Amino acid sequence: MKRIALATCADLPTLSADDRPLVPALADRGVTAEAVVWDDPNVEWDSYDLVVVRSTWDYAPRHDEFLAWAETVPRLENPAHVLRWNTDKSYLRALEAASVPVIPTVWLDPARHFSKRAVHTRMPAFGDFVVKPVVSAGAKDTGRYIPVSAQSRAMAIKHTMDLLDSKRWVMIQPYVTSVDSAGETCLTFVDGVFQHAARKNALLTGPSRPTKGLGLYLEETMSAVAATPEQLEVAQRALAAAAADLGLDGPLLYARVDLVTGEDGPLVIELELTEPSLWMTYSGPVPTLTRFADAIAARV
Ligand SMILES: Nc1ncnc2c1ncn2[C@@H]1O[C@H](COP(=O)(O)OP(=O)(O)O)[C@@H](O)[C@H]1O
Ligand SMILES: [Mg+2]
Repeated sequence: MKRIALATCADLPTLSADDRPLVPALADRGVTAEAVVWDDPNVEWDSYDLVVVRSTWDYAPRHDEFLAWAETVPRLENPAHVLRWNTDKSYLRALEAASVPVIPTVWLDPARHFSKRAVHTRMPAFGDFVVKPVVSAGAKDTGRYIPVSAQSRAMAIKHTMDLLDSKRWVMIQPYVTSVDSAGETCLTFVDGVFQHAARKNALLTGPSRPTKGLGLYLEETMSAVAATPEQLEVAQRALAAAAADLGLDGPLLYARVDLVTGEDGPLVIELELTEPSLWMTYSGPVPTLTRFADAIAARV
């Protein structure tokens, strides 16, 4: 019997509800799957035939530790170098360079020691905007602001300065307003093959930085949705650009591409190659669970 670990976090020791059905599905395929907490010091990671990263949703404040852990795991999917690339949203620049449409972004380097005034001039004069760190998950430390309100601008500047002071790179983006009405579309891929899409409702109400009462992530409201051919094409181009930038020679076990709708069509908001919820319960007639369990079993 092959034995694999599904890596999770201490807050979810028995996996997320979305991933839990993987355990019996893998058992049906002759694979024993165990939920294992990634930062548990007593785990012998080399005793597993494969370790699949799943709900390691507490990694962002411990980014270096998480990547160091990933390097120590002999057989990890997605592999450590993919996690290193993907846990810093600077990869969006590589996608942009490959002509993949992404949300236009201003990047602020903490090493440049921007003054409040310099930060202020980098914020848009019109239209709501978003401030977020390049390393983040679950919309933590992500705020939405209104430029015409002096109070909101002051909050945005404070938010940005706080992130920069803690040596974090910052992203400033226009708030894509279609998210309020149409949400985000999350496209799930297994072994490079598109499976299904799900819709995620808007998370940021603003004008504020949603920090109070935040757990691991902001509560997400999902529903089933059909991806348009245009969305599928942009998602596939994003994955191809990622594969080229990473020098991959085969498809990733799992990937999720999150898209929003800009004035000229789909824009990539995020590529999730680290610990995406695949939203398997929203899949179509060939359940993504089946494909995912098959793909994991094939790699053991
Ligand atoms: N530019 C933007 N326009 C509209 N909504 C945004 C924008 N950036 C972030 N958001 C909202 O914040 C959430 C979290 O941002 P995201 O970039 O997906 O980072 P993460 O999921 O890693 O925290 C998104 O799901 C979306 O609701
Ligand atoms: Mg996201």
